[in-house]
Amino acid sequence: MTIRNRNEPLLVQCPCLPDRKLLDHYIDQIYDAKWITNNGQLVQRLEKELTDFLDVPYLVLTANGTSALQLALKLYDIDQEVITTPFTFAATGQAIKWVGAEPIFADIDKKSLCLSPKAVAKKITKRTQAILPVNVYGRTAHNQEFESLAKTHKLKLIFDGAQSFSPPSLHQRLALTSGDATALSFHATKIFNTIEGGALILKSEDDYKKAKSLINFGFRVGLPSENGTNAKMNEFEAAFGLANLETINKQIEIRKHLTEEYKQQLADVEASGKIRLIKSPNYAYLPIQFSDEATLLSIDKALQEQNIFGRRYFHPLQPGCEPSSVPKARAISNQAYCLPLHGNMSVADTHEIALILKAALASPSVSSLAL
Ligand SMILES: Cc1ncc(COP(=O)(O)O)c(C=O)c1O
Repeated sequence: MTIRNRNEPLLVQCPCLPDRKLLDHYIDQIYDAKWITNNGQLVQRLEKELTDFLDVPYLVLTANGTSALQLALKLYDIDQEVITTPFTFAATGQAIKWVGAEPIFADIDKKSLCLSPKAVAKKITKRTQAILPVNVYGRTAHNQEFESLAKTHKLKLIFDGAQSFSPPSLHQRLALTSGDATALSFHATKIFNTIEGGALILKSEDDYKKAKSLINFGFRVGLPSENGTNAKMNEFEAAFGLANLETINKQIEIRKHLTEEYKQQLADVEASGKIRLIKSPNYAYLPIQFSDEATLLSIDKALQEQNIFGRRYFHPLQPGCEPSSVPKARAISNQAYCLPLHGNMSVADTHEIALILKAALASPSVSSLAL
């Protein structure tokens, strides 16, 4: 197989655009109703359809995943210390700071790449109010340990599930229903998108009602009863989401197929110990672990020379975190890299990427992973 000259760049993600006819069908409804925001009929419908699809107790749609995280923290009056992972997207720590609390970083578990319950236990102080683990690449880990830690220390447990959208049949149901709340992101780069958007999954009707009020300036029966914000999704985003939801299972199937192709193509370099393919259970990402940062950078360069753009998820670590205090997170942040994975790619693309990767890994300077 030869490597093509690409005119169009191949990016790490490509937004899933819904079928135009289907989208128009929903947009016609917006024009008929002349209602474009403020809990309109499509937002209500998407809320209901997602609650059923994800099989979760309550779900509140929000403007984005970051506002869903902020909402969860506000809902439980969190304003002191929150223990979280340094190996995540910037939004996690920023949401904590935005509500006036302080992120306290604990190291990750080397195998799961998620926050380590043992490391969290050592960081609990009188000021700790919540634990905020992240479902990295859609992975779920240690949920029961976190549940019992939170119970013992009377802490809130909020999951950043921005990357963990998946139907329960595919994914561990635990991923979306552990703890008090789980924030999802429906950003354009996510497996399910509403352009910008997100949701907060909740367990009780009281939390649901309070969250619905907080995203709308704290309004209850027409009057602001508490200090809220504006974190509402609008009708056009909901239309996009409703149309995308109709093909989500097909999207996941395509990504699963591409993932399997990658795995086959890279099986020999994985067997040689030069890379580790990290599992993304909902096929949201195609993460790879290299032996060191120099190897990662050489692969990134080789791909870019062919107009192919992977991404370092997550690098750097969260601002304010001292890397030497979290050695496992620091190591993986220097070694993890996501290859392109989305519904607009072909199987041939995965074969080409694997070829480029293998050629770069064949250099004698590349060492094996110390696992
Ligand atoms: C782990 C994580 N947390 C939070 C977010 C923020 O979501 P959004 O971009 O929808 O605000 C993202 C994605 O962008 C993410 O990957």
